Formats: sequence, C-alpha cells, structure tokens
Amino acid sequence: SGVTKNLFSAISDPKPMTSRKVTVVGIGAVGMATAVSLLCQGISNDICLIDVMEDRLKGEMMDLQHGSLFLHNPKIHASKDFKSSAGSKVCIVTAGVRQQEGESRLDLVQRNANILKTTIPALCQHSPDAILIIVSNPCDILTYVAWKLSKLPVNRVFGSGTNLDSSRFRFLIAQRLGCSTSSVHGWIIGEHGDSSVPVWSGVNIAGVRLKDIAPKMGDDDDPELWKKVHKDVIDAAYQIIKLKGFTNWAIGLSAAALTNTILTNQHNVHAVSVMVKGRHGLDYEVFLSLPAVIGANGVEKVVMQHLAPNERCALKFSAAMLSEIQCGIKL
Ligand code: LAC
Repeated sequence: SGVTKNLFSAISDPKPMTSRKVTVVGIGAVGMATAVSLLCQGISNDICLIDVMEDRLKGEMMDLQHGSLFLHNPKIHASKDFKSSAGSKVCIVTAGVRQQEGESRLDLVQRNANILKTTIPALCQHSPDAILIIVSNPCDILTYVAWKLSKLPVNRVFGSGTNLDSSRFRFLIAQRLGCSTSSVHGWIIGEHGDSSVPVWSGVNIAGVRLKDIAPKMGDDDDPELWKKVHKDVIDAAYQIIKLKGFTNWAIGLSAAALTNTILTNQHNVHAVSVMVKGRHGLDYEVFLSLPAVIGANGVEKVVMQHLAPNERCALKFSAAMLSEIQCGIKL
C-alpha cells in the first residue's frame, strides 16, 4: 500500500521466524488460563484457539489481541475449523465437561472421550509432528484414549497428570516448613485424582530426606499428621470447585510449563501421565503419572524412582482401576 511503500525503506525480506505455534483446544476457564499463561510468559508467539462456540472464540481472540502491546506481539488466532491449527508444535486439549460439585473426574470419562474422537484425528491431520498434551479430565484415561486415536508413538502424547498435584504437594509442604515451593522436592505420581500416590520416601529439602527426620511421615500413626498434606492435595480441586465453581489458574500454569519445556527442549523433569506398562511391575496398558524428562520430542525418559512397597502397591491399584474403566469406553 502507499503507506507501507513510503514509510519503509526495505533492507531485507522478513524471514519466517521459527514458529512456536501452540494450539489450545477448548476455551473454557482452563483453556483460557492456559492461553494467558503461555502468552504472559512469552512461551509461545503464535497461539491458535479452537472451540465450537464461534462468538465466544471471536471475543476471546479479540480480547487477547488487544493486549498484544503488553504481550511481546504474538500472533493470536481462533477458529472452529481445525485447519487453523496447522503447523502447531504443541496441541493442548482442555475441551470437555468439567466436574460439577459432587462429581469425580472419572464421572466425566465417556462424555469427554466422545469429544476426543473428532478432536484428536483433526489435530494430527493438520499438525502431524505435534506433541499432544491432554489436560481434560479424567486426564489419565483421556490420555490413553488420545494416544489410541492419534496412532502416535507413546512419547508424543502425554497427560498433564500429577504435575499439578506435585505442585500443590510441594506448595503445602513449603507452607508448613517456611521455605519456597521450588526448594521442596517431592513427587505425587499415579492417577491425577483420588488415588494419587505421594512418594514420601523421596521428599527432601537440599537433599535432606524428611523421612530420615520423621520416619513415620505419611503414615496413619504419624504424630505430625503429614498425611494430611496429601489429603489436602486430593481435596484441593473439590474444595476450589465448591468455592469458585472450577479450577483453572494452576492447571493453566502447569500446562504452560509443560509446553515451555517442549518448545525450549529443556529436558525438565515433570510428573506427567505416561504409558506405565512394563514399569514398576505394572502390566496394564494405562497412562499414569511418573517423573519424566520432557523435551522437543515429548516424553524422552521416565525417572525410575525407588518406590516403597506400599507406593508400588498403590500405583498398581490405580492402574488396575483405570484399566477396568478403559475397557468400558466406547471408542
Ligand atoms: C484440578 C483439575 C485440573 O486438579 O483436575 O484442578
């Protein structure tokens, strides 16, 4: 145009920047918290929002675009057509119904599995090289469903899993001890839900294992009642749902952190929902959270923690339960 021609004296053609395109499917509270977390931290410079509600999509897109000046000028687009997700490096699936008061995550399984039947093939068609992060609940079972529908290798599909539970766990321990959350090292593995497994044997600050100081830590007869920390982690979502109707900020930040370690190929270790068959003596084809090294190829390695017998047993219980539920899903 006249302005462009007369405003600039061109020196070179702009090179297409290495896109860090991320698609977020589902613009509910979790999807938007994920998108805002990605944008505010500059994790992605190209965000595509996908949902079925066209007006809401357009509104959210415009509202985010109008903040571009404060957001490192990213590309923000939205569509109900999966074609717009083409070329994504990471696709985050948050679409689906969420727990209502009194519902467990597992109650949502068939309704949300039905959504994946169209979502996953469409994402894979337009972004054949993408890493899929499943956030919708029940996260572990839906990660299995997404993996099956995608026909991708297991490293390319994982669930946000207990990355959030571990964050809650570390926060609550940090609160008790009066230090920062990032200085408390501790892992919750297994189901992102009521049967998650706290690995008390591994909780440490600067390498000092708390179980060496309080051997009964996490046991029922622990005089210091540390077990309540894990109970508070399990109750967290139910409590927040009761208070504000849904959870979204912490899970959005969790999904953004997982996306960041992929896009920057950082190889950070996160507790995420991975295929556990053949690990810790488990023979079920299910996804549960274990600490895993996450990079540009998705799940690169799983950290094989030395689990106490009760921790292995709890993991096996979760695997058997999820396997049973998976058998009942109509794909
Ligand atoms: C929660 C949801 C994401 O735990 O399952 O907040």
